[in-house]
Amino acid sequence: MKILLIGSGGREHALAWRLKQTPGVTIISAPGSSALANLGEVKPVAVDDIKALTSLAKDLKPDLTVIGPELPLVLGLADSIRALGLPVFGPSIDAARIEGSKVFAKDFMVRHNLPTASYAVFYDPIEAKQYLKDSSYPVVIKADGLASGKGVFICGKLSSALDALTELSSMEAASRIIVEEYLAGEEVSFFALTDGTDILPLATAQDHKAVFDGDRGPNTGGMGAYSPAPLVNDSMEKLIIDTIIKPTVDGLRVEGSPFAGLLYAGLMITLSGPKILEFNARFGDPETQALMPRLKGDLAQALLCAATGRLKEASLSWDNRFASCVIMCAEGYPGNYRRGDIIEGLEAAVSQENVTIFESGVTREPRKTMVNGAEKWVETAITNGGRVLGVAGLGDDLETALKNTYETVDKISWPGVHFRRDIGSKALHPGPLYPMPMY
Ligand code: AMP
Ligand code: GLY
Repeated sequence: MKILLIGSGGREHALAWRLKQTPGVTIISAPGSSALANLGEVKPVAVDDIKALTSLAKDLKPDLTVIGPELPLVLGLADSIRALGLPVFGPSIDAARIEGSKVFAKDFMVRHNLPTASYAVFYDPIEAKQYLKDSSYPVVIKADGLASGKGVFICGKLSSALDALTELSSMEAASRIIVEEYLAGEEVSFFALTDGTDILPLATAQDHKAVFDGDRGPNTGGMGAYSPAPLVNDSMEKLIIDTIIKPTVDGLRVEGSPFAGLLYAGLMITLSGPKILEFNARFGDPETQALMPRLKGDLAQALLCAATGRLKEASLSWDNRFASCVIMCAEGYPGNYRRGDIIEGLEAAVSQENVTIFESGVTREPRKTMVNGAEKWVETAITNGGRVLGVAGLGDDLETALKNTYETVDKISWPGVHFRRDIGSKALHPGPLYPMPMY
């Protein structure tokens, strides 16, 4: 099976790594990365160049196109490749609004009676300001559009809400603003493959959005993940499927925008049940890096079935072991970050047992290095993104998975590297702030 994989990050590296384990699968990535170049051909076409990606698909005639990031989905890449008569794993421009516009998503949730935080939408910052003056705190303020996880502010008091408004005023994604009720609880990412009608839930995972230990500091695209999320036992999974996933897939189909791809529900498990924080229209990053090492079965076939309305024929199973993934970031991330640092220890760490390293922001360039006393040009791994590496470890329990993961993390370094030390600690030590919900 020839697969065209759109994207270049750690999620795409993890997907490609797993897809390649199906015999007969070949991968062509666009724009790809140096890691993806080790798994197949790469074509240097940017993810937002819909015209060029469509003509690439026209030339290559892949058996399946898998779209990794949200941007090409929101720009309509799935539609234009499908219009060529080629199977695509990824929703249409209409279905992808569930991620591309938080206002669309919230209104959809209300139309379909889905559990979520109460909210108000503002087009005018002055009206938003007045509303915030009259609000009780905490509140959550969100940009409507895509903001790489950085358009959400949780504000404990009016002054921080006003700061958030100022910050949002310079963001293109924030022409509309949502102010919503703060939900207390424990977060879970729930992924399901769907062909628009049937669903196939994947294993559960938990992300860590805040940049610093203890969930402090600004939100990022995701600093680490583990799988499974112990909070989602069988009855919770059933509740999530029955009250959230199925009605969402049905609602999109009934509204004329069937969703074929991966539906990602970002959930808060509250004392009154699971509530939707957001939807995404694609695999999560870094959850995918924690999920792929646990996945057994034929992922390529399952994605093809989802793309072609035959999801009923697909099945997947999961390794019983736990997985954790720690994201190693460049200095400055999630703000302006450094690029171009040599990554020490990566090549040696790659062969660690029970650990796989997925590259999010790495490039390889020839650099002058001393080899056996002589200076030589050697292909060298260089930081080239805010999130640089995702180190994913497996273990019989979460503690062992984390131990394997951090042992490898500690072997890799570059100037200014930072990462969270407490990935998974909420699952190991549930505190009083996160009471287990009862039903
Ligand atoms: P979102 O992009 O909407 O998922 O928001 C990013 C992050 O902000 C989530 O992963 C949560 O950690 C947090 N968040 C979003 N909405 C809420 C809310 N209503 N209550 C509490 N935390 C929230
Ligand atoms: N892990 C968060 C995201 O992929 O949006």
